[in-house]
Parts: sequence; structure tokens; C-alpha cells
Amino acid sequence: MKNRSSLPLYTPSSPSLPDEKLLYQNTDLNNNRSDDSGLSSRNVYIETYGCQMNVSDTELMSGILTQAGHRTVSHIDDADVILLNTCAIRENAEIKVINRLVHLNHRKRRKEDLIIGVCGCMAQHLRDKLLEAAPYVDLVMGPDGYRDLPMALNAVVTGDPFLSLQLDKNEDYADIAPIRKEGIRAWLTIQRGCDKMCTFCIVPFVRGRERSIPLDILTDDVKRLVDEGFKEIVLLGQTVNSYNDSQHDFGELLWRIAGVDGVERVRFTSPHPADATDSMIDALENCPEVCKQLHLPLQSGSTRVLETMRRTYTVEQYRDIVYKLRERVPQIALSTDVIVGFCGETEEDFKQTYQLMEEIRFDTAFMFKYSDREGTLANKMLSDDVPESEKARRLNEIIDLQEGISADINTASIGTTVPVLIEGNSRRNDEEYHGKSDTFKTTVFPKENARIGDIVDVTIQSSTAHTLIGEIA
Ligand code: SAH
Ligand code: F3S
Repeated sequence: MKNRSSLPLYTPSSPSLPDEKLLYQNTDLNNNRSDDSGLSSRNVYIETYGCQMNVSDTELMSGILTQAGHRTVSHIDDADVILLNTCAIRENAEIKVINRLVHLNHRKRRKEDLIIGVCGCMAQHLRDKLLEAAPYVDLVMGPDGYRDLPMALNAVVTGDPFLSLQLDKNEDYADIAPIRKEGIRAWLTIQRGCDKMCTFCIVPFVRGRERSIPLDILTDDVKRLVDEGFKEIVLLGQTVNSYNDSQHDFGELLWRIAGVDGVERVRFTSPHPADATDSMIDALENCPEVCKQLHLPLQSGSTRVLETMRRTYTVEQYRDIVYKLRERVPQIALSTDVIVGFCGETEEDFKQTYQLMEEIRFDTAFMFKYSDREGTLANKMLSDDVPESEKARRLNEIIDLQEGISADINTASIGTTVPVLIEGNSRRNDEEYHGKSDTFKTTVFPKENARIGDIVDVTIQSSTAHTLIGEIA
């Protein structure tokens, strides 16, 4: 074990990125199920950090815990067990969790038998180093260990921390029924892990090898989701379009899922440009339930940088996919991920990224400063040589650019009519609904006689960079 002082310094005032905010606090999803396991039933509170895949994993953990007779609770004060489902993608994500743990330790001092667990990508990444930083943690569990959760909760009673950090290339949790909050949109994991090995990325090391869940199981899941009232299915995977269960590819999967009776909309995230096959584009063009929206991570507008990132495509190839998509699906909305300040990124490389974003005009973009992650290929082979102040400047420049483009694109949609799936009351006004357009834009409009779950045509009357405002046509 490494010395405590070798750990990064975590301070409560450390900055954090908005994308790493707490996404989801587990609510009482399982409605007071009683204990039928014979083991002691515990109230478990789960906090989720990071991406949608983690939200989906929290639903899976809730399913596993409930099946074993435990209960998930929506208030932390009711918890016997607090689990943090964590993210490791950038350093800020981990700092945030360490700060949270310091806070939870105060709680544990007041309630000695409180169990605190760290699950997910950061657990897998930091392993036993996590116990050095936070020795009061009882449970450290990676993304392939969730089947052991009930057993682990019993084991930690002895006082010893429980570590479950084995990656398992066969673990797909296909037999587990996740417990979701009621709603309109359900997230469905169709693939776990990643085989791509981009040099900057920790995901392959913390989530292991790519594995696809068999299509027959997924279609049965979707039938159940429709029965539960969900209308929109969002398919999840790290490189979702490389899906292959050895009998079906991603295009076939899209048609099959869209064909399930009662499915109104299908989306997916995130596809990898290198797997943007004609069968995927065909489904986007021709399958009515597949929404006209694509999140296609670019990362850099410099082919030289893309090579050092090992993204396996050039700028020209990326551009060709965009033009092909726009030719075949003219109304398609495109979003992307961009990293600035990657190892060796020159001002000229950065300018190419800026210019490509100007040229492509994405509807929205998630933009990040490069964050060196221990264990990645870049960390081993390349030098994190762009100064922090320079990374910040480059990030601010593309954020300013993108905000303007997003606002312009939304302004240009004023006067058009878009189909919106109603999700609920708007946050600001009970007389209004909010929902997403086909192109995944948040849209707000007066209720009239429409109902939650309906798809209505909304004529856009005004907009901001992130919202469309209109009324039912
Ligand atoms: N599976 C997705 C990416 C998952 S991570 C894909 O197809 O690319 C989400 C985003 O985080 C990435 O697209 C990338 O833009 C960003 N990211 C990943 N590792 C990062 C790092 N070390 N520093 C900064 N941003 C990073
Ligand atoms: Fe990460 Fe690249 Fe896979 S960004 S998740 S290694 S596609």
C-alpha cells in the first residue's frame, strides 16, 4: 500500500465541473418491500455521480439489494447504509467524492453502525488507496461486483472493509431486473465495458472489456418497460454502436427495439465515429421511432491529436460522417464531446478544433480540459504538458463559441413546429409542461388539454441557448 502522502490532496474548496454534479439520489424505488431473505434488512441510500451509465448501474444495484430483502430510501437520515456510485473520468470527479466522504464520516461518528460504501469507477480506479484516503469506508466495490452487494453488507458487520475489485468479462447482469423511478424515459444498458483504449481514458481500465447483452433479453426488457409506462428508450453503452451479440449488429438492434409495441421513441448514447456504419445511419434515416439526434464524440479537430489519442479516425473521416448524416437526415441535431489541452496539443491543433466546431456547428457540446488519469496510456507514455492556465483559456474559447452557435441554432428554429414528448410540469410554472423535442431540445409550453406521455406538435416562439419555448400547434 502506498503512503498516505502520495495521494492527491483533496480539499473541500477544490473546484468541480458542472457535468460531474450529483445526478441522482436514489429514491424509495422499491416501495417498502419486506425482508424475505432471513438476513437483516437494511435501509440503503445511494448517491450517483457521473454519467448515465452510473444512473443505470444504480438502478441495477437497487434491483439486487431489493431482491435480497433490503430497501432503498430517499432520505439520507433514514439510511443504515450509504453507497456512493462514483465516477473516475476526470480528477475533479474523484475530488468531489473524497470531499463527500469526509462529510459522511461526521455522520458515521454520530451513528457508529452506519455502513459507508464506495462503488463504481472510482472504487475500481483507486482500489485500496481509497481506504488510505478514507479509512472509515467499509466497502469498496467496482462495477462488476454488484452481485456481491448483499453479501458484502453482511460481511462488513465484522468491522473489516470489504473489497470487491475483480473485473469480469462475462458479467452483464442480464438476469437482474433494475428498479427505476417511474417516468417517461428509461435508460437501458445494452453493452458494458469498452475495447477502444483511447489513450486519455480510464474507462477500459475500470469497466473492463466490451460485452453486449443478447438482443432477445433486451427486447423482453423493453416490453416490460412499455408495460410499466415508459415511452422513450435510451440505449446505453460506451461505444453503443459497436454492439454485437454475435448474431445482431447495432442497426438490427435499433429496428428491433423500435419495433416493440408501445415504444414511441428510441435514442442511444454514445456512438463511436469509427463504428458509424450504414446500418446505423439507415435506422436514423428510416426508422420512425429512432430520434433525429446523434451525440458523436469528436474529442479534437486535429488529426495529429486524434492519432495520439488513438481515436482511430481522422478529421476528414469524422467530417465525412457528418456530411453523410446531414445529407440523409437533414433535420438531425448533432452534439459532441471535445477535450482541450491534451498532451502535446499546440495552438495550431487547438485552432483546428475551434475551426472545425465553427464549421460543423454542433447543436450542443460537452467540453473538457484534459485531466491526466493514473493508469491510462497517456499517463504512461505522454507528457501532460499544456499548462493549466492555457487549458482554461482554450476551454473558455470553445465554450463561448459553442454557446453562440447553440443559441443561434435555437433562434433559427423559431416558427418551426417540432414533436415533443411530454415529461411533466415545467420547473418554473405549473401551467406549463416540459418535454424533449425529437432533436433532444428541452421545450416548454402551456399545457392546454395535453397529458404527460403524449407526443404533441409544438410551434416554437422564442428560445434561449438551451431551451425552446412555444405552444401546442
Ligand atoms: N464512450 C464515450 C466516452 C465516455 S467518457 C465515447 O464514445 O467517446 C465521456 C467524455 O469524457 C469523453 O468523450 C471525453 O470527451 C471526456 N473524457 C474522457 N477522459 C477524459 C480525460 N482524461 N480528461 C478530460 N476529458 C475526458
Ligand atoms: Fe473511453 Fe474511448 Fe472507450 S473515450 S469509453 S476508451 S471509446
